[in-house]
Amino acid sequence: MYVPKNVYTNTDLARYMDTSDEWIQERTGIKERHFAGRTGETTTTMAVEAAKIAIERAGISPQDIDFIVFATLSPDYYFPGCGVLLQRAMKMKEIGALDVRNQCSGFIYGLSVADQFIKTGMYKNILVVGSEKHSFGLDFSTRGRNVSVIFGDGAGAVVLQPTEQHNQGILSTHLHSDGESAEILAMFNPGTHANHWTSTTLADFNEGEIGDMFMSHKMVEQAQNFPNMDGPAVFKKAVVKFPEVIMEALTANGLQPTDIDMLIPHQANLRISQYVQQKLGLRDDQVHNNIQQYGNTTAASVPIALCEAWQQGKIKEGNLVCLAAFGSGFTWASALLKW
Ligand SMILES: CC(C)(COP(=O)(O)OP(=O)(O)OC[C@H]1O[C@@H](n2cnc3c(N)ncnc32)[C@H](O)[C@@H]1OP(=O)(O)O)[C@@H](O)C(=O)NCCC(=O)NCCS
Repeated sequence: MYVPKNVYTNTDLARYMDTSDEWIQERTGIKERHFAGRTGETTTTMAVEAAKIAIERAGISPQDIDFIVFATLSPDYYFPGCGVLLQRAMKMKEIGALDVRNQCSGFIYGLSVADQFIKTGMYKNILVVGSEKHSFGLDFSTRGRNVSVIFGDGAGAVVLQPTEQHNQGILSTHLHSDGESAEILAMFNPGTHANHWTSTTLADFNEGEIGDMFMSHKMVEQAQNFPNMDGPAVFKKAVVKFPEVIMEALTANGLQPTDIDMLIPHQANLRISQYVQQKLGLRDDQVHNNIQQYGNTTAASVPIALCEAWQQGKIKEGNLVCLAAFGSGFTWASALLKW
């Protein structure tokens, strides 16, 4: 894992918007988050830092990696994706690089893709990364406070390799989506939507027959270039889908919540994690939360929490680890691992 060195407390954010440490902690559990350098640090450079550690711990070199899966919603460029930038930065071979756009579930979606490539024998060393530089595009005025206080920057990475041992590694992955509520948590612009999907105006275009639809002055004036979120609606759905997808993974493997040694939930909100823990009847030592220090780092949140739990000795060989995520799309996913 890698997080940038700049720490912003809730009180720091209150310098920019009408909010308070008390409100943020009470509603989300978040105390502080890390923000990348304004310049010189990007979603890809953070991913490189995390990837270097993962590759070293796997006892291989960047030239041994034969496929990259890169999950992010905050890419360095609109296109090409971050995968190729990471391939270049780490001087890797001319391997495949896939970018995944599944927001908070992105890392588990990426892991699932990599798992299939490993299981078919196609690749031997796959780098799966999740990285976000949210701080580049949040509305830090009071207008955007319901979104901007939640998110933080950072990256996490794993190297996936085959094993001959039965019942070890990734036991199963479970992926879901429901686009019915796509606009409930979304960043519309820049995009090609042309106000097609909703009755509300997602973008104010400049006059003109062609062009000017990608990013117009009007859009910027109307603050339509920031993420939108109906927080309570996301919360309500998350507390249903998290337990559901965890139970799906357990049932598929003939297991029960009591069998989980460590649950790594995507760090959306401490209250959501606590609800899920209670619903599944898990003890505190069966769940790792770190949103208090990092905020919600979206595609990076699961690998950062996984890495931290492992570094703290909370995950040992042979443990049953469950990863689970829910987010924008909506998409949600789980993975069950025998460490
Ligand atoms: C975003 C979230 C923390 C908001 O908490 P909430 O209790 O639902 O609060 P509401 O959105 O209903 O807003 C309550 C009030 O707080 C205000 N408020 C919103 N953000 C605020 C902030 N940062 N500081 C102070 N007040 C804030 C609102 O304006 C509203 O004021 P009003 O009652 O005068 O209208 C919560 O809904 C949540 O965490 N949802 C899930 C979001 C999530 O997980 N997103 C990522 C998905 S992976």
